[in-house]
Amino acid sequence: MEKVYIFDTTLRDGEQAPGFSMTTEEKLQMALQLAKLGVDVIEAGFAAASKGDFEAVNLIAREVKGPVICSLARALNKDIELAGEALRPAERKRVHTFIATSEIHMKYKLRMSPEEVLQRAQKAVQYARSFTDDVEFSCEDATRSQRDFLYKVIEIAIKAGATVINIPDTVGYTVPEEFGDLIEGIRNNVPNIDKAIISVHCHDDLGMAVANSLMAVKHGARQVECTINGIGERAGNASLEEIVMALKVRRDFFGGIYTNVNTRELYKTSRLLCRITGSFVQPNKAIVGDNAFAHESGIHQHGVLTHPLTYEIMSPEDVGFPSTRIVLGKHSGRHALKSKLTQMGYQFSELDIDRIFERFKALADKKKEVYEEDLEAIIYEEFLKAEEEEPVKVLHYQVQTGDKLLPTATVVLSYRGEERTASATGNGPVDAVIRAIQKALGIQPELLDFSIKALTPNTDAQAEARLVIELEGVRASGRGVDVDIIKASVSGFVDALNRAILRRSYILSKESIRQEGTV
Ligand code: KIV
Ligand code: ZN
Repeated sequence: MEKVYIFDTTLRDGEQAPGFSMTTEEKLQMALQLAKLGVDVIEAGFAAASKGDFEAVNLIAREVKGPVICSLARALNKDIELAGEALRPAERKRVHTFIATSEIHMKYKLRMSPEEVLQRAQKAVQYARSFTDDVEFSCEDATRSQRDFLYKVIEIAIKAGATVINIPDTVGYTVPEEFGDLIEGIRNNVPNIDKAIISVHCHDDLGMAVANSLMAVKHGARQVECTINGIGERAGNASLEEIVMALKVRRDFFGGIYTNVNTRELYKTSRLLCRITGSFVQPNKAIVGDNAFAHESGIHQHGVLTHPLTYEIMSPEDVGFPSTRIVLGKHSGRHALKSKLTQMGYQFSELDIDRIFERFKALADKKKEVYEEDLEAIIYEEFLKAEEEEPVKVLHYQVQTGDKLLPTATVVLSYRGEERTASATGNGPVDAVIRAIQKALGIQPELLDFSIKALTPNTDAQAEARLVIELEGVRASGRGVDVDIIKASVSGFVDALNRAILRRSYILSKESIRQEGTV
């Protein structure tokens, strides 16, 4: 039985994708859950990318025990130094350095000759080894690289001290048979390959990231880089939950290969990421989608009730899919709340539990039952919303509506500390209040998506509003929860606005890095 190492890059490649940026506190919550999930390596960020990335890698290195903590670094001394510095407090650390090896990247992006790339790779690995014995080297755009050159770079990187060699399909271009053949080629043509673990990192542009990664495992790769819910650049990365469950369910096919992942934590981890990013997976998403274990047709229902294996190749419990809903109410105490939070995968200090308890009690007074979704909403509001000062804050609003009234709203808000007021009419109360906010700010973002749903099945349910907007080319999603649907919509809209505004500054701060040509 051989192990495949699971390298999670949700906090680096995943976070890099538009609409998925996370605050430092959010990254820490995710990293703690990833450790509980049992991943072997957490790529906590790209320390040189920004001050925020450095701080997140550093905090995770300090707080998260168990997995190896890793930072990405270009093949540049200053990047490697920052990665080494951010990782200093980690119990186990890895520097992951990379350079592109395809002709198109070397010629147009790096403007370097193949010989220069070889030297840069060698020096970067050697330098990274001065910070840790665990060094990963990636040949960016490996699947479009010339094979003999790729073999040469890998050989040199291993000689220089790389312990893991990563083969990324950076642009999601390869297909399973071709990728399997590439891994086989590396194993047969790189003389010192037995001194390193072969890793793969596949993007999903053609929808084959998981299939390509699994084919690579079949051909000898022993580390897979992947992300929760498959988030990542463009179409995303290989989905961690799909890789892990495919290896588990089809262990017969993969020759007994196993991973360290506690699959019962998969659903919880996926949901935590959804809550944090405000971006939910589609209902039919494999393993963690709402419908992944739902049976609608009579024939299927009958089959499953008679024997689950008729239509289920794995059980919902295997992935931690909730089968029972435990309900808390106004008579529940702090103890019950705490054990519920632990069961949901959160790890809070006693002081933080006090904060949640206070909000929980206030909510339980307003509605009969408080569900997991309600608690998640409280946690999101209390801890996971952007830590940075929010540019837009709604101070007060008032809406007049009725069956014979034109809905009219007045809003008082502050924009970066400056108070503004505006009124507007709309096609409904929500439309009116959103128009008033836009008027007060003098902006008109495009509303790409808007949905509102009850979190629980009662008339006193909390409503969850989810919106996607585009503001000056920046797309952002927002989420608001309240027992009042207008209030939920207002906070969701303002949440999306704030994310879009903050994301613009984030993009600008990263722009200088991109100009030098990299991820
Ligand atoms: O897709 C890619 O090539 C990467 C590397 C930096 C590993 O993310
Ligand atoms: Zn990538």
